[in-house]
Amino acid sequence: MATFSPNDPAFLENPFPFYEMGRAFSPLQVGPPGLWSVFGYDDCTAILKDHATWSSQRGGPNGDPNAAPSMLSSDPPVHSRLRGLVSQAFTPRMVEQLEPRIRQLADALLDEAAARGGAVDLIDALACPLPVIVIAEILGVPSEDRAKFRYWSDEIIAGLGSGISNPGSQLEPGMLDEMRAYFGRMVEERRAHPRADLISGLAAAEVDGSSLSFPELMQMLVLLLVAGNETTTNLIGNAVQAFMAHPAQLALLRANPALLPSAVEEVLRHSSPVQATVRAATRDVELRGKCIAKGDSAVVWIAAANRDPAVFPDPGTFDITRNPNRHIAFGLGVHFCLGAPLARLEARIALEAFLARAESFARIDDALLPRVPTFIMRGVLELPLRVEWRQPAAV
Ligand code: HEM
Repeated sequence: MATFSPNDPAFLENPFPFYEMGRAFSPLQVGPPGLWSVFGYDDCTAILKDHATWSSQRGGPNGDPNAAPSMLSSDPPVHSRLRGLVSQAFTPRMVEQLEPRIRQLADALLDEAAARGGAVDLIDALACPLPVIVIAEILGVPSEDRAKFRYWSDEIIAGLGSGISNPGSQLEPGMLDEMRAYFGRMVEERRAHPRADLISGLAAAEVDGSSLSFPELMQMLVLLLVAGNETTTNLIGNAVQAFMAHPAQLALLRANPALLPSAVEEVLRHSSPVQATVRAATRDVELRGKCIAKGDSAVVWIAAANRDPAVFPDPGTFDITRNPNRHIAFGLGVHFCLGAPLARLEARIALEAFLARAESFARIDDALLPRVPTFIMRGVLELPLRVEWRQPAAV
């Protein structure tokens, strides 16, 4: 019998039987009263699209009443204003232009890893540092402050506890003060002398004559770190694991490198970095004959929807040519992931660079890998590999 024991390493290793069981009974009350789980693709997408009935607002006892609302945990119209302000500064065009720089960073990280020899922890060497450096550069954090920035980013993610739903709520106040002071100085400086970076953009952005307040700007920075770094790390790590588990698919990809974008989409579906998100009912709702009361919460199991056999034939099969592949790994509706173009670009470049440099790669042993300790995310903390490196092409 598949059970829901979210802190059990065995559950984190393989939650898929639970999703399969849940789909048959969805919506299902699991855990404390008033907490529902929704598994089917149609129900999950309907909930994510209906923000009037299904609120993202968090007013729980752990929320900091003084904190500004974050985009992720607010509903329209508050959400629309915040999203509008950041969208002006964080455009798909800006992301596209980053491609050569991201490639340079990925190559440099792989050079360092190869120089250390044939044993490498790919999370530590590539999947973790790449998104952190990229977001630091997008924001405009000078490279001499990168170590401090990395520390804040790690601390924010470590303090994340139960998931992405309440960013920043469990941070150590001293660190937050230090971060506030640092970014406060940076915002002042960029207001006086704008540059082509995201902090300048956020400081200058306006919607209907209103700009971001300083607490809102801080909340936005925390959200960008929380929502963007670990998720992208997990996507890269999950992709390399999937390639090792499915050697025929890896061979197909090696023979047809143009399949890489479609392979990334299949990793997002099959091994979704964000497994679930949460909504609260704003009114009594009847769903498949069950009454979900106003105020009840629903865990929307994105990863279960992404394996719904009604939408994805042979959903457990990892198929890099899958088409169509209408997964919801980046969510749906007004909260659709703001960083999706960046995450896709970073993953494609990191994997392209790794596959180009690694003649072959394999796990060092079969031991279970330590996992990110929350059922909200799917990813490993370490991915030790034995790699046979190719020398980089001479320039
Ligand atoms: C593979 C990587 C990523 C995955 C799987 C992912 C997944 C998601 C999901 C599922 C949501 C919607 C959550 C909800 O509806 O409750 C979301 C929202 C968001 N993501 Fe991502 N994300 C990724 C990378 C990034 C990156 C790189 C950034 C930015 C640098 C980012 C920034 C955001 C923001 C700001 C939101 C909130 C949007 C809103 O509320 O309007 N994400 N992400």
